[in-house]
Parts: sequence; C-alpha cells; structure tokens
Amino acid sequence: MSVAKKEYKRVTVKSLIEMKKNGEKISMLTSYDYTMAKIVDGAGTDVILVGDSASNVMAGHETTLPITLDQMIYHASSVVRAVKRALVVVDLPFGSYQSDPKEALRSSIKIMKESGGHAVKLEGGKEVKESVKRILNAGIPVMAHLGLTPQSIYKFGTYTVRAKEEEEASKLKKDALMLEKIGCFALVLEKVPAKLAQEVADSLTIPVIGIGAGSGVDGQVLVTHDMIGMTHEFNPRFLRRYMNLYEDMTNAIGQYCKDVKAVDFPNKDEQY
Ligand code: KIV
Repeated sequence: MSVAKKEYKRVTVKSLIEMKKNGEKISMLTSYDYTMAKIVDGAGTDVILVGDSASNVMAGHETTLPITLDQMIYHASSVVRAVKRALVVVDLPFGSYQSDPKEALRSSIKIMKESGGHAVKLEGGKEVKESVKRILNAGIPVMAHLGLTPQSIYKFGTYTVRAKEEEEASKLKKDALMLEKIGCFALVLEKVPAKLAQEVADSLTIPVIGIGAGSGVDGQVLVTHDMIGMTHEFNPRFLRRYMNLYEDMTNAIGQYCKDVKAVDFPNKDEQY
C-alpha cells in the first residue's frame, strides 16, 4: 500500500534513521485503542503515536494537561496488543517528567514495563535536557517534540504557529541540535514555518516528523481521528481529511435508529 524504498517487517528506531538516509518519508499516525491501532498498523504506517491528544480525542478535555500516566499506559497497552509492524511511541503526559530527571525516568520505565511501548516522547528543549539524558541512559529511546508544544498551552496562550520570530526560531534550532547530540532518535516539529522546519531537518541526521511543518521534513504525523474526518470541529490549514467519517457514521447510526423504530431491523435472516 505504501511507496516504500525498503520493506521493514518490524520498524525500529534504526529503521527510521535509515529511512531518512535513503530519502524515504516516514508515516506516523496516532492511535489510542486496539481496534484503531490494528487498522493503522495493517495499512502500513511506520510509527504509531499513543499521543496525549487522547486527552482531547478520547476524553473530551479542552487540553492535553489532564491525562494521567496510568491512563496513557491503558491506551498504550491496548495499542501494543494490536501492532505487528509499527514502532509504538508513547507520550509522557504533563506532570510526569517536568519536576526532575528522576521522576522523568520513573515515568518512562513505568510506561515501558506496563504498556510494552517501544519509545517515549516528551515536549521541550533545553528545559528537559537532563531528563532526556536520564531516560536515554536507561536504554529507553526518546522522541523529542518542539515548536507548538500543547502541554505549555497556558504559557503560549494560543495554538497559533510558533517560531515565526528570529529569537524563537534560533532557540528551536539550538534545541534541535542539542536533542540530536544527546541521543534522541527523532524529533516532532509542530506548527512552525515550513522554511524553518526544512532547515532543521537538513541540519540533523535524525528524522524530523512534521505536523503543520510543511513538506521539507522527513515524515508527517496527523491525529488519525482528524484525518479520517471522525472529528469535524477542528479545521487547521495543515489538516487533510481523507474521509468524512463523521457524516458517514451519523448517517449510518441515524438509519439504524429509523430501522429499529420501524421494526425493519432485525429482519427474518437476522434472527435465530
Ligand atoms: O499527542 C499528539 O497527538 C501529538 C501529535 C500531534 C504530534 O503529540
């Protein structure tokens, strides 16, 4: 199904670095449950992110802040049970790594032990450097996340494009180089100008996966519920909807309700 330059039976952190070297773009999507993960993995997605966006998509919270470590582990273990090929990356939720490196390591170990995920992702640059080093020293692969970092929404105040000004762009570039140097295997860049994202991708040997960061990066990530049109109120410019599942599901469920009321369902063949 995908246009792959090399077949990978199982995607590892090494495969992703190799994909970048070979000029093969990386596909990444979110999943929070077994059924969705089975479809996303079966369709050939390289990386499945158990994102803390579960807080919005699964639980209906306005931000990603409320989701807990145990809730992330529940989602991640459901995903891991479904996946045969993709690399499963699990978000460290807000409050599970910011206070100190020991806490960051404890949370990461808990995720790896209890969910069976293959790597963790966390948000931030210089501020989380010591935590990232601690996690990496324990042999746990780390994916970094810069640009718009939704766990800091109350600091930013809005979800608009980040690093448009030189000062923030320059900090982002420095953070990206530092994160590669200390050993992160990949970097997510969220909602930054395409030119800056390409510059960062060109300056690193680890893959840069973009969301709202243009086409000059090494791969793309979207929230699956958004790209299949199951959600319909979130309409950022970067989102391409491949289906309108919200409408299709509403019509199907509406038809089912009508059929039940009309005693059309179940029919003779649908009973014992
Ligand atoms: O939580 C999430 O879904 C994410 C992606 C948007 C990158 O972090």
